[in-house]
Amino acid sequence: MDKLLVTGGAGFIGSDFVHYILENTDKSVTVLDKLTYAGSLASLKDLPADRFRFVQGDICDAELVTGLFAEHDAVVHYAAESHNDNSLSGPAPFVQTNLVGTFTLLEAARATGVRFHHISTDEVYGDLELDDPERFTEHTPYNPSSPYSSTKAGSDLLVRAWVRSFGVAATISNCSNNYGPRQHVEKFIPRQITNLIDGVRPRLYGDGRNVRDWIHADDHSSAVLRILERGRIGETYLIGADGEKSNRDVVEIILQAMGRPADDYDLVTDRPGHDLRYAIDWSKLRDELDWEPTYRDFGAGIAATVAWYQENEEWWRPQKAEAEAKYATVGQ
Ligand SMILES: NC(=O)c1ccc[n+]([C@@H]2O[C@H](COP(=O)([O-])OP(=O)(O)OC[C@H]3O[C@@H](n4cnc5c(N)ncnc54)[C@H](O)[C@@H]3O)[C@@H](O)[C@H]2O)c1
Repeated sequence: MDKLLVTGGAGFIGSDFVHYILENTDKSVTVLDKLTYAGSLASLKDLPADRFRFVQGDICDAELVTGLFAEHDAVVHYAAESHNDNSLSGPAPFVQTNLVGTFTLLEAARATGVRFHHISTDEVYGDLELDDPERFTEHTPYNPSSPYSSTKAGSDLLVRAWVRSFGVAATISNCSNNYGPRQHVEKFIPRQITNLIDGVRPRLYGDGRNVRDWIHADDHSSAVLRILERGRIGETYLIGADGEKSNRDVVEIILQAMGRPADDYDLVTDRPGHDLRYAIDWSKLRDELDWEPTYRDFGAGIAATVAWYQENEEWWRPQKAEAEAKYATVGQ
């Protein structure tokens, strides 16, 4: 598998995967990305020209994607509408990209026989109680809450059906919440960091007790590469790193990393359908594919992420202005 096609590679996690592959392997990468508001060519700067190519286009364009599939050994599918809040105010692009787009790619995989890996989220499982002893496993029933998570759940089911019905050589991974450099400022951690750089106090939904299970984007990328190379066709793998933190914990860690008092934030009214807790059991990935995360110290990972946003204002300033015009600056 020397030639990879990466959909959505100008977004947060997709671009992390592209950097990860080009830095750690000899493979070449083509990115197919529509460059929605969430995609940025600035995330793909300074990549080796002999091993990297960018194609602007829509994953719903069947002719374009089938032609690109035929030129590659494997496809890793990150492209999606990915922001829960946007899915509440306007679900249509979520249905189009996450469902119709994934369907279009699966048809291309069927026509060309190319290996396909589908990137999904733990949000397909709904949420857990705060004191629930269980974590999500590959056997947890789907129970999505929002248009975002329901369209991701639907796309996972399409992949499973195309494996069973048509013999498409596909795998699926469902990952917990990612953090790291190059994440759009509309998302929770970069929004808090960039607000604080601008002197704006963090605001949290509800009582801030909602728990997310955090993983550094580089660990997500290394896990995806492992599944691509060693995963069993038709299987689903959960990706996590034992990073459960309440939103309150996360804000306090960011405040401390930025030299501010840990209680320097406000609580605001909750949004509808806000999931309580996500937590991933990733033992299948560890036991079957011998994978381990490398970023175990969340405080250190956050400090490095804060430093990246402090040093790369030219990357996020334009999207911050755009996002501020679009949303109230509240927590996720
Ligand atoms: N961010 C997380 O914490 C997280 C966790 C688990 C899984 N995921 C999944 O990972 C994937 C990437 O998430 P992200 O946070 O990097 O998202 P993102 O919003 O940062 O990036 C999405 C990318 O897809 C592109 N895109 C959107 N519609 C497209 C279309 N129709 N055709 C081609 N390109 C299109 C955008 O331009 C953008 O570059 C998504 O599938 C998401 O569900 C994300």
